[in-house]
Amino acid sequence: MNPLKFQKQLLLAVLSSLTSFCLVSCGEKELTFSKDIAPIVYKNCTPCHQPNGGAPFNLISYTDVAKRAKTIAFVTRTGYMPPWPADRLYTHFLNERLLSESEIELIQKWATTGKSAGDTNQLKPMLSYKRQSVLGPPDLVIDVPPVTIENNNTDRFYLIKIPYQIKQAQYVKSVEFVAGQPSIVHHANGHLLLYDQLTNPFAGKRIIETNDSHFLAQFNRLELLNANGTKPERIHSAFNYLPGSFGVKYPNGIGGFILSPNGTFIANDIHYGPSKKALIDSSKLYVYFADKKPERPTFEIMLGTNGVAPIVPPLQIAPNAISKHITELTIYNDISVLTINPHMHLIGQQFKAYALKPNGDTVRLIKIPQWQFRWQYFYTFTKPVKIPKGSIIRVEAVFDNTIKNPNNPFNPPQLIGERNDHGGASMRTTDEMLQFILTYMPYQKGDELIDLGGK
Ligand code: HEC
Repeated sequence: MNPLKFQKQLLLAVLSSLTSFCLVSCGEKELTFSKDIAPIVYKNCTPCHQPNGGAPFNLISYTDVAKRAKTIAFVTRTGYMPPWPADRLYTHFLNERLLSESEIELIQKWATTGKSAGDTNQLKPMLSYKRQSVLGPPDLVIDVPPVTIENNNTDRFYLIKIPYQIKQAQYVKSVEFVAGQPSIVHHANGHLLLYDQLTNPFAGKRIIETNDSHFLAQFNRLELLNANGTKPERIHSAFNYLPGSFGVKYPNGIGGFILSPNGTFIANDIHYGPSKKALIDSSKLYVYFADKKPERPTFEIMLGTNGVAPIVPPLQIAPNAISKHITELTIYNDISVLTINPHMHLIGQQFKAYALKPNGDTVRLIKIPQWQFRWQYFYTFTKPVKIPKGSIIRVEAVFDNTIKNPNNPFNPPQLIGERNDHGGASMRTTDEMLQFILTYMPYQKGDELIDLGGK
C-alpha cells in the first residue's frame, strides 16, 4: 500500500469510527422525561400545577405532562407559562420563574420526538412540590376561620378576624398566608393588631362582609376596638397574598415583629373572586419564629390608590380611552428597598416604576410591558436596592379602556375608576386601582451587598 493510500484509508477508518461512535453517544441523545424534562417542570410548573396550587390541572406525573406536551411546548415557547410579567431585561428578582432558552428548546424537542418517559423511578426524590407553603414547615399554624363561598359567580369581600393564643411571646420573622382555595382567593392583606390589653381575642364575630359602613363600625362588629372605642395600632401588612405570590422571609435580623401570647390578626379586605361552585375556603397562616429581636425593622411606602402619593390625572378612565397615569413621591432619607408590589386591576396595560436620583440617574425598580391581572407578585430584589434621599419614586401606568382590550369587563366600555369610599373597602375587580407598595429599611452602609435569598 502506498503511504498516501494508507493515510487515506486510515483517515476513512477514523472518520467512520467517529461517525459510528457518534451514532451511539454523541449525536442526538434521547431526551427523557425523567432526566431532562421533570427537573424543569418540578421547579417551574408544579408549584402551581398541583392539587391546591391554583392551576386547573396537575403537572406531576409523566402522563400529566406527556398528554399535554404539545400545549406545554406552546405555552413555554410563547412565554405564557410560567407566568412572570416583569421584564427580565429591566430588573431581576429572587425566585424568578423564567425558563432559559435552552430549557425551552429541550421541551420543544422532547414534545416532538417521542416523549420518552425514561426511568420514572428517578422522579420520586425530586418531588418536593408537596409543600403548600413556599417557605417550608412553619413553627406555628393559625387557622383562618373558614369562609363559605356561594356559587353565585360574584366577587366577595370580607374582614376576617384571626385570633391566636401561644404559650409565650415570640419574635416572628415572617407570616405566610396559605390559601385553602387558591383558585378563588384573589387577594388578602393582613395586619397584626396591637392592644395594651386584650382579654379574649376569641370573643365576638370572626367574619363580616365589608360594606359601605365606616370601618370603625365594622371593627366594632368584630369586637376589635380598644376599650375606649378607638382603633387599635397595628403591624401593617404582616402578611400579603396575591395569586401566584410567594411568601417572603428575609435573612436573619431583617424584618419581623413580636407576637404577644394572645392576640389577633385581621385579614383586612380579603377578596374572593367569582365562583360557579359552592366552596369552603379554609386558609391558614404559617408563622415563622426568629430567635432574636429584629435588628433591622422594615417599613412600607404605598403610592397611588389609598396611599400617600396622589394619582395624576385622577384614576377615572373614560370609555374608549387609553390613558396614562403617574404617581410620584419624594423621599427624604436613604432607603434600602427589599420588596415591591405593583397593583392594578383588569384594564391595566403597562406598569413601570423607578427612582430619579438628585443627580439625575435612574434606579430601575420594575417594568411590566404587558400587565397580567392574574399574576401580581410581591417582587423581592436579590439584593437591597438603595434609593438615596432626595430621590423621586415615580410610577407610570397605562390603562386601556377600549373594546380592543380583551380584559375589559364591560362591552360597550364604561367609565372605570377608583372607588375611595371608606378606604377603598368597596372596591371591585371591575373598579380600577393603581398602587405601588415598597417594603424598605432605612439604609445602612453595605446594604447593597446583602443576599436577600440567603439565611
Ligand atoms: C404561578 C402559578 C403557575 C405556574 C408557575 C405555572 N402555571 Fe401553568 N397555569 C396556571 C394557571 C392558574 C393556569 C390557568 C390559566 C390562567 O389562569 O392563565 C395555567 C394554565 C396552564 C396551561 C393551559 C393554557 C391554556 O390556555 O390552556 C398550560 C399548558 C400550563 N399552564 C403549563 C404550564 C407549564 C408548562 C408551566 C411551567 C413551565 C406552568 N404552567 C407554570 C398557573 C401556573
